[in-house]
Amino acid sequence: MTNEHILVCVAWPYANADIHQGNVTGSYLPADIYARYHRLKGNHVLMVSGSDAHGTPVTVRAEKEGKEVREVFEYFHDRFLQVFQKLGLTYDLFTHTDTENHHRVSQELFLKLGENGYLYRQTTPQMYSPSAQRFLPDRYVEGTCPNCGYERARGDQCDSCNTLFESAAQLQNPRSALDDSALELRDTEHFFIDLPQIAEDGLLDWINDAAKSDYWRPQVINFARNFINQGLIGRAVTRDMDWGIPVPVEGFEGKVLYVWFEAVIGYLSASIEWAKNSGDPDAWRNWWHDENARTLYFIGKDNIPFHTVMWPAQLIGVHGLYADDPETVLNLPYDVPANEFMNMEGKKISGSMNWGVWILDALERHDPDPMRYYLTAVMPETRDSDWSWEGYVRRNNSELVGNWGNLVNRVLNMTKRYFKGVVPEPGDLTAADQSLLDAVTDAFDSVGGLYDACKFRSVTQELLRLSSLVNQYLEEQQPWSTAKTDLAATGRTLYVALQAINGLKILWSPILPFTSQQLHELLGEEGTLFGQQVVETYVESEKSHVGLTYAGETAVGTWQATPIPAGRSLPKPSILFKRLEESVAHEELARLVNPELH
Ligand code: MF3
Ligand code: ZN
Repeated sequence: MTNEHILVCVAWPYANADIHQGNVTGSYLPADIYARYHRLKGNHVLMVSGSDAHGTPVTVRAEKEGKEVREVFEYFHDRFLQVFQKLGLTYDLFTHTDTENHHRVSQELFLKLGENGYLYRQTTPQMYSPSAQRFLPDRYVEGTCPNCGYERARGDQCDSCNTLFESAAQLQNPRSALDDSALELRDTEHFFIDLPQIAEDGLLDWINDAAKSDYWRPQVINFARNFINQGLIGRAVTRDMDWGIPVPVEGFEGKVLYVWFEAVIGYLSASIEWAKNSGDPDAWRNWWHDENARTLYFIGKDNIPFHTVMWPAQLIGVHGLYADDPETVLNLPYDVPANEFMNMEGKKISGSMNWGVWILDALERHDPDPMRYYLTAVMPETRDSDWSWEGYVRRNNSELVGNWGNLVNRVLNMTKRYFKGVVPEPGDLTAADQSLLDAVTDAFDSVGGLYDACKFRSVTQELLRLSSLVNQYLEEQQPWSTAKTDLAATGRTLYVALQAINGLKILWSPILPFTSQQLHELLGEEGTLFGQQVVETYVESEKSHVGLTYAGETAVGTWQATPIPAGRSLPKPSILFKRLEESVAHEELARLVNPELH
């Protein structure tokens, strides 16, 4: 049993839309699989994330619906807690960015960056709405595209010719997207992070070292190096907005920290919040200061620059934060195993077109493990992938029901039929028995290595291969035939097969935690493989908030095959997976086209 400290950082979803399969397969599910694997190994895992409450994505939605921003953010935050519980995503803490704790840590980090000399002030012209008496973010600005003449180009991008604008000031005849009134340019002062200086003071060395390692995904490290090598410029880390974390500097009233600047700080602030809740307020330091700890960031590819450049720059720049030694640095990312995108039936997932699998809704009709399975089997680890309902049904039926589930059924039912459900005595094992058991035992190393390397698609292939191997062993041994001629041989075969499915149960459990727990019980084992997520209310000085925490008894250190003893009486078998009718795929597609069927 090992006892490394492993920090599992998971992308913070904007609290402005329901979660779809692309979000889950892109970051939340791989993070959960990785965390569960390391818990079984006996490592100290801390998995943190929360809702991203700030930024224009959330305010735009509120404005569109005529609601308070807080109302929108709390509505979606609550739905995230439900979906994560149902899907079994084991966050040690899932909080949000509007807590007192997160505000405080973000402001302290900002001030420390300034103290260390990595912030400077600069005045620039920004779009100002005289009618609303405020500066408008680029997304709220519309005008004529200087490139193609399209009259409704947005301040950040022209939807007609796809030109990206540096600033909304490039548009001709700029107007407010809120009330169509004319806009003017006004000077405003902001804080900028000095990325060129941080590059010299450590960022370049760090990225070059990372590039030398053998485990970073090439598409991730290449993107980050190109980004840095193209030359870094200072970036504004404050915005003219009132929804967000106030800039803690006199004269900056009405300005907030830029949402991306503070959202990534959530990984640190959530660790601090978790430690405080755990009763040991310094416990977070084991993951952030101990240089042997490993920190991994599970994100989608659109988040790569913020996690491989901006956040590492912030971490380097705040040396001395919460430390006695002013040179002490917070741990930099060990790896950022970013995933590519998942499409759906060949088209881009889209909220406005109602084109996606809305997980909370889908879990009303589908069990969590088959969804987790399919999302793992087609995870976009190296290139964009595709969800198809036909594929979901087919792979559920052939791989879960037909291969793994069928194996479990056969073994349990034959044990019941020939031995009244009592685990038979093995007697002396044959070479074939032993080689099957060895294959399962060896998998704890080989498949464990795949889990540790975040190659989860390969894990599913390898485990299907192993369960086929056990199925094949049964075909060769024919325990149903020997039952008439040599009952001892049947007993030996079933004993071996029971040990094999018991091992496979653990090997599958990071991906299929619910059915693995079910099988754990069907094999007469006590206790739980994993803890559970619980909704908790956290009271701060003025505010309180709800979040998810991971609690309960867990079988840590069970990453090994432990024999099921002969003579044990097993409970009545039940099935792990249900066969799905082909019509399910048509029904699910029909729902998308007619959302009223929801
Ligand atoms: N809310 C953003 C997104 O959904 C950012 C996620 S990760 C963070 O893309 F760490 F930056 F919050
Ligand atoms: Zn254009």
